Amino acid sequence: MADENNSNGKNGKVGLVEQVTTTVKEDIRALKTDIPAKAKEQIDGLKDPTKTQVYTSIFRHKHDDTPRNRALGVLSNVFLHLHPAKINRDAVRYSYTWGMGGITFYLFIILTYTGVLLMFYYHPSKVQAFRDVLYLEHDVPFGKILRNMHRWAAHLMVIAVWLHMFRVFLTGSYKKPREFNWNIGVLLLVFTLLLSFTGYLLPDDQLGFWAVTVGTNMARATPLLGHEGPFGSQLGMTPYNDVRFGLLGGSIVDANALLRSYIWHCIGIPIVASVLMIVHFWRVRKDGGISGPAPVMLAAEADKPRRGPKAAGE
Ligand code: HEM
Repeated sequence: MADENNSNGKNGKVGLVEQVTTTVKEDIRALKTDIPAKAKEQIDGLKDPTKTQVYTSIFRHKHDDTPRNRALGVLSNVFLHLHPAKINRDAVRYSYTWGMGGITFYLFIILTYTGVLLMFYYHPSKVQAFRDVLYLEHDVPFGKILRNMHRWAAHLMVIAVWLHMFRVFLTGSYKKPREFNWNIGVLLLVFTLLLSFTGYLLPDDQLGFWAVTVGTNMARATPLLGHEGPFGSQLGMTPYNDVRFGLLGGSIVDANALLRSYIWHCIGIPIVASVLMIVHFWRVRKDGGISGPAPVMLAAEADKPRRGPKAAGE
């Protein structure tokens, strides 16, 4: 038994040494062929980086200037595919769109960014709110510019959204097939105005207090839901259970109204508006891109002589 073990152990050792030797030999043989092949590949890669494995793993198609490659270039790129593969040259001219939809969206991004920064300093309570605004204005480094960026972007967004709507109306872009997107736009307009209105109360100054007092007093007269509105009293509406009471969280503009404004302003309305914007942009794509005076065409195609029956008549 002991002999067997010894001989097995000896044989095992010999087997292992042989195995290692052959593997090392094979590796050396492979290196002799692999290294030159790898070196050639590296040199080829330096000569033409578009042929390297790294490049082709990222960019999966050629880049010759053909309409197909242009479309593939956009569609196969994770960032660029957010944009349409082809767009109507004339439709994206600033003189046509005034860039107002894009500017509105850009202002919304600024508002979100500056708004989140303001949230680090602001407490929505009667004791703190106005003090926080004073603190931001006078003590917080860059607080004044931060607050003013938020205020000015808010004013500009309201102006831009109206101008955008005006442009869409002037170019008749509310017509078929864009009726649905026009309606999404109307909701976006309402939510933009609501963002502005709810933000008004947050500094808890006299201006905001009275603006919101006047604004929410109008809610008393809401048909059916306001205690002074048509059929309101018949439906049992009082100053303590009507729609105004729901908006303010009470019968006067006070601590609850401030808290409700804050939550609507910072969470509720931005979320709804963001979802609507996603739908809005998706619909622009689905409705055939931005409406425009001329059909989709590349600059290169526009210069070429036209073919077909229409060209014969030209
Ligand atoms: C937060 C508000 C809004 C944002 C961020 C926004 C954004 C945009 C953007 C970026 C476009 C692409 C074309 C362009 O820039 O002009 C667009 C198109 C459009 N928007 Fe808006 N929009 C908003 C509100 C509105 C409103 C209030 C309306 C109308 C009631 C509207 C109706 C439309 C329509 C119909 C189109 C397609 C226009 C076309 O094909 O020419 N949008 N929007």
